[in-house]
Amino acid sequence: MPVTDADVIEALRPVEDPELHRSIVDLGMVKAVAVEGNRASVLIALTVPGCPLRNEISRRVTDAATRLDGIDGVDLEFTHMSEDELSALRTRLHGDPASTAGSTPAHGHAEGRAIPFADPASRTRVLLISSGKGGVGKSSVTTNLSVALARRGHSVAVIDADVWGFSIPRMLGIDRPPVVLDQMLLPPEAYGVRCISMGFFAAEDQPVIWRGPMLHKALEQFLTDVYWDDPDFLVVDLPPGTGDISISLSGFLPRSEVYVVTTPQPAAQRVAQRAAFMAQKVNLEVKGVIENMAWFTGDDGRRYELFGAGGGRELADRLEVPLVGQIPLVPALREGADTGHPIVATEPDGEAARAFGLIAGRIDDELAPTRRFHPELKLI
Ligand SMILES: Nc1ncnc2c1ncn2[C@@H]1O[C@H](COP(=O)(O)OP(=O)(O)O)[C@@H](O)[C@H]1O
Ligand SMILES: [Mg+2]
Repeated sequence: MPVTDADVIEALRPVEDPELHRSIVDLGMVKAVAVEGNRASVLIALTVPGCPLRNEISRRVTDAATRLDGIDGVDLEFTHMSEDELSALRTRLHGDPASTAGSTPAHGHAEGRAIPFADPASRTRVLLISSGKGGVGKSSVTTNLSVALARRGHSVAVIDADVWGFSIPRMLGIDRPPVVLDQMLLPPEAYGVRCISMGFFAAEDQPVIWRGPMLHKALEQFLTDVYWDDPDFLVVDLPPGTGDISISLSGFLPRSEVYVVTTPQPAAQRVAQRAAFMAQKVNLEVKGVIENMAWFTGDDGRRYELFGAGGGRELADRLEVPLVGQIPLVPALREGADTGHPIVATEPDGEAARAFGLIAGRIDDELAPTRRFHPELKLI
């Protein structure tokens, strides 16, 4: 039997848009299909002109169509969606702006859309990674922990809320800004982690001057106007210390779990404690301590405690929370951070990656909230 146009469409149905993670057929991106002999021509409407993922989409479509018996080649043409098509798409993904019903919330910040993670029915666990001061490895932990959670099969999103020292896009090797789809931001993705950063909206060599109310608004927009698609985990890299961002986030995301990163020396530990007290002041739960740069393993196999020892344990005991894990000092971790290749992905069997794997496992299995939120059990 010759291949029909309908067969090609069925073959394309499992192909997902790399950014939206939905079928390109269901998204309305497959505009036309024609089969002639053993070739198929396909017209694809991209969400935005010059879509950065066009090559990836081409590859996926060609692979899927040529897997059909009787199709040896694909002629691809591209167009882009009209404004009406984009609005319809955004409504499907983010709800109807005209609706005020809970299940299909108005979709943009400006239109009064609620923060999806604040909903008691939200399945997303929000992990706030904090520290008393900069340079202890908070962003390195955020990045590698996120990749480790993704490697466990979870969908993971990151907000780089360290407005003065944003570094997550660089650490994840992301060098393109989010795609804007009818005012909805599609976060770029790397290593299975989607990411939004203030860094996308500020030039790297320019000072960022945000006042409290502006920060509050910007964060709120990140939470509402980005297409997060209900991830399992939202990991937030907080700015060091305490302050406006933590207060805003505690209001936006009251169910967040705080993890405090510290280094092993007693002095660092006292500074880290301030971040923990701050969290408690704004009613956020500190769930655990992560000790970074805990030791360096020499070529002789011995562990050298370059920055002292015991700080993580001491802080955890004082806060009465678990010491979730200890990460060794590994030069390749820094190199990976500088070049956008997280060590958890590039050296998965190395000492550092194994430490992050253990931490991800404990957060996933042991530290999951006991109170589960079932949408079907919602009162009202
Ligand atoms: N365990 C580690 N081993 C080696 N280098 C590390 C480690 N943790 C962090 N670094 C490096 O230390 C520097 C500061 O880490 P970073 O994650 O940027 O800290 P913060 O976000 O707390 O300011 C970076 O250059 C980073 O690559
Ligand atoms: Mg940082």
